[in-house]
Amino acid sequence: MPAVPLMDILKKAFDEHYGVAAFNVVNDLTMEAVLAAAQVSRAPVIVQTSVKTVRSIGSGVLFSMWEEMSKAVDVPVSLHLDHCPDRAVITECLQKGWNSVLFDGSQLSVVENLRQTTEVVHEARRYGAHVEGEIEAITGVEDGVGSDEDAAQQSLEVVLNFVRCSGIDVFAPAIGNAHGVYRSEPALDMQRVSDVVSATSIPIALHGGTGMAEAQFRGLIERGCAKINISTALKINFMQSSLAHLEKARFEGKWDPPSFFRDVRSSVMEMAAHHIQLFGSAGKA
Ligand code: 13P
Repeated sequence: MPAVPLMDILKKAFDEHYGVAAFNVVNDLTMEAVLAAAQVSRAPVIVQTSVKTVRSIGSGVLFSMWEEMSKAVDVPVSLHLDHCPDRAVITECLQKGWNSVLFDGSQLSVVENLRQTTEVVHEARRYGAHVEGEIEAITGVEDGVGSDEDAAQQSLEVVLNFVRCSGIDVFAPAIGNAHGVYRSEPALDMQRVSDVVSATSIPIALHGGTGMAEAQFRGLIERGCAKINISTALKINFMQSSLAHLEKARFEGKWDPPSFFRDVRSSVMEMAAHHIQLFGSAGKA
């Protein structure tokens, strides 16, 4: 099935109160494993790429991989560009065929962020693409973008004005969530999600999904978090399953790339299927 627009996936999830996992993939193997997990779970899924991944693999190669791999599944899937402060990369990905982008103007003044986000929304519409927006930097560094300093929340009034005036399709708030590994359970401002949703009816993107508690996911999904980003869990799983295979290979003196890829793929698939199940999207395709 060819990829579908982001909002085809998110509108249904938002209306029916389940979350769609959005995994940051890092190469061909992880892209294919995430799609395969969605297929076996009969779930919609969002595959997202960081700017770093776009630059290291190249948008052309990455998009060709996506086109071929997404054709092989018959559940709704969509390709998203995660945190991108660089307008040239936004344009490049929209031209290639990414279904949606997150313009990350959180380092700009609110006025300048609103101006540029509005421009990105107009640009995306020419390609039938959707836009996620943010004005409060999410704490933590995601593939080279962001900072470890605690994110400052804007007033609700500023947030609502940004959402309404920019025309974005999905909003990513800072609610005490952070990219990377949480040292303790995060204290989340769930009320902020309810406030934005009740005033604007816009689906919320939850960043920093790795390591949140099941009850937190449940509460946030119920309030309107329809897109849940998972990056660190995939990276850790990919690296640790690679290490486990390589340690075994050294011990046994057997160096066989196909079985290496098979082991890592099945581990990443299991991690993805676990999150899909946790967010309630299994069986929704
Ligand atoms: P984690 O790295 O905490 O999973 O967060 C992912 C994310 O929000 C990507 O934008």
